[in-house]
Parts: sequence; C-alpha cells; structure tokens
Amino acid sequence: MKNTLGFWGIVLFLIFNFSYGNRTTAGCGYTSDNCENICDICDRFFFDQRIRCYELLITETCFKPFNTSMSTLNTKDFCQWNSIKSPYDNFTICTEERADCLLIPWPNKLVESMFVEIHSNYFKSCPTQGLDDPPPSIVFALVMTPICLIPVMVVLVVMKTKNGDRRS
Ligand SMILES: *[C@@H]1O[C@H](CO)[C@@H](O)[C@H](O)[C@H]1NC(C)=O
Ligand SMILES: *[C@@H]1O[C@H](CO)[C@@H](O)[C@H](O)[C@H]1NC(C)=O
Ligand SMILES: *[C@@H]1O[C@H](CO)[C@@H](O)[C@H](O)[C@H]1NC(C)=O
Repeated sequence: MKNTLGFWGIVLFLIFNFSYGNRTTAGCGYTSDNCENICDICDRFFFDQRIRCYELLITETCFKPFNTSMSTLNTKDFCQWNSIKSPYDNFTICTEERADCLLIPWPNKLVESMFVEIHSNYFKSCPTQGLDDPPPSIVFALVMTPICLIPVMVVLVVMKTKNGDRRS
C-alpha cells in the first residue's frame, strides 16, 4: 500500500513538473501582483490558447464589473466624462494589466471590439463636439474650396490642350 502511494506520488510529481515546464516556456509578464496566478490558471486550463483565456478573463473580471458600475449610473450621466471616467479607466487598466501578464500585445483586437461594444451600448447618443456641428465658417470653406477650384481646373485643362495643339 505504501509503495503504491509512493508510485502515484512520483507520477503526480512528474505530471505536475511536466505542465510546469510548459508553463515557463510560454513566459509570463510578472508586471503586477496577480500575474503569477493569471499565467498559472491560463496555462493550466487553456494550454496554448492564451488569447482564449484572456478573452474569458477580461470578460469576467473587466467587462462585467464595468457593466455593473454603468448600471448604477443614471442614463443622463453617460455623457458626463466625470461620472464615467472611473469605470472607463478601470476597464482600460484591467485589460492592459492582464495582457501584460500574458504577454499579449495591448491594445488588441479583442479589447478594441469591447471598446466598440461599450461605445455602441452606452455612448452612442452622446454629442461629439466639433463632429456633429462644425462652425459655419468651416462648412463655408469646405463647400467653397472645390467650387473655387473649378475655374482653375478649367484654365489648366485649356492650357494643356493648347500646348498639345501647338506641339502637333
Ligand atoms: C508540453 O510540451 C510538450 C512538448 O513541447 C508537448 O508535447 C505537450 O503536449 C505539452 N503538454 C501540455 C499539457 O500542453
Ligand atoms: C454588458 O452590457 C451590455 C448591454 O448593456 C450587454 O450587451 C453585454 O453583453 C454585457 N457584457 C457583459 C460581459 O456582461
Ligand atoms: C476603480 O478602481 C479603483 C482602484 O482600484 C477603485 O477604488 C474604484 O472604486 C474603481 N471604480 C469603479 C467604478 O469600479
């Protein structure tokens, strides 16, 4: 009985070491306190698919808390930078920290698509200064520039044609 336990102990030890060896080859950022745990969990349960682990991790630990803190806000505060700054910054820091741990580039496609989702969920109807409503002088300049260019183009074309005629 004692021998059997010893045998399984060695087997478990070898298995543990084996997966541990793979873990270290994948690398870990060690940029924040939680890094070691994050790398460990990801490499233990997802093996080579760190990006899948990252997706699950930031959905659960960054996106959901963001949603929760947004749900405590009044809808009319969504467009007030002061009230959304804290959850927004936390989401940014949260996704960046976990990416740094797992040696995933940041910003990445996953985070970008989450930002897009966040914007379309919460900030879609917020006015964007300067985009919705440019001052009249800019509109005037934008409209007039091509119109003023037309005579110039005509003159250029005429001159080109004349030059061509002379040469032939
Ligand atoms: C660990 O790495 C070895 C060789 O690189 C590979 O054959 C093995 O499948 C890996 N084990 C796990 C659990 O990913
Ligand atoms: C966050 O909330 C939006 C709608 O408010 C929902 O579409 C999205 O699935 C939620 N995401 C998470 C991770 O809970
Ligand atoms: C953002 O993070 C800070 C520090 O971790 C915390 O004090 C604050 O409550 C968080 N804010 C939100 C909205 O989660």
